[in-house]
Amino acid sequence: MQMNERIAICPGSFDPITFGHIDIITRASAMFDKIIVVVMKNNNKTSSFSSEERKEFIIKSVGDLKNVEVDVYDGLLADYAKQKNACAIIKGLRAMSDFEYEFQMALTNKKLNPQVETIFLTTSAENMYLSSSMVKQIASMGGDISEFVPGSILQEISNRLKKNK
Ligand code: PNS
Repeated sequence: MQMNERIAICPGSFDPITFGHIDIITRASAMFDKIIVVVMKNNNKTSSFSSEERKEFIIKSVGDLKNVEVDVYDGLLADYAKQKNACAIIKGLRAMSDFEYEFQMALTNKKLNPQVETIFLTTSAENMYLSSSMVKQIASMGGDISEFVPGSILQEISNRLKKNK
């Protein structure tokens, strides 16, 4: 680790990663020395892909960004940020419906780890209504998800979700 390296965490369930996440990670990577994208557990969601599968999808999607690392962590985000000496947590904000939940998480994380700031990046307009759950629903019904996920992971995601039907 370099001295005074500014590290930010991009946490999420990434089940699977979409162009919405990729946009946020790419923009965050231009703002910090290092970004750690971390696959975590969201207790309110049931995942369709294993943590390792989700990690692989992320690597295939943003692996070309030189200052981005990808990890999996099963505990609290606030603890992970402390372990990694991160100064920021980056989250993407879509419609107003995201706001209350994200605000609550940001305040909780600040209580648990006062050293870390949550920074919200507004999603790009074209990704405003894009979500992993929508992608999964479309793919499981045989729909085309090429507008939502990169070509490098498209087939794997489509095949897996169709099989699960
Ligand atoms: O992509 P998501 O589902 O919006 O990401 C939410 C996530 C995984 C970042 C959040 O559920 C989380 O931080 N989980 C790790 C456990 C934790 O720290 N919970 C307390 C959050 S206040």
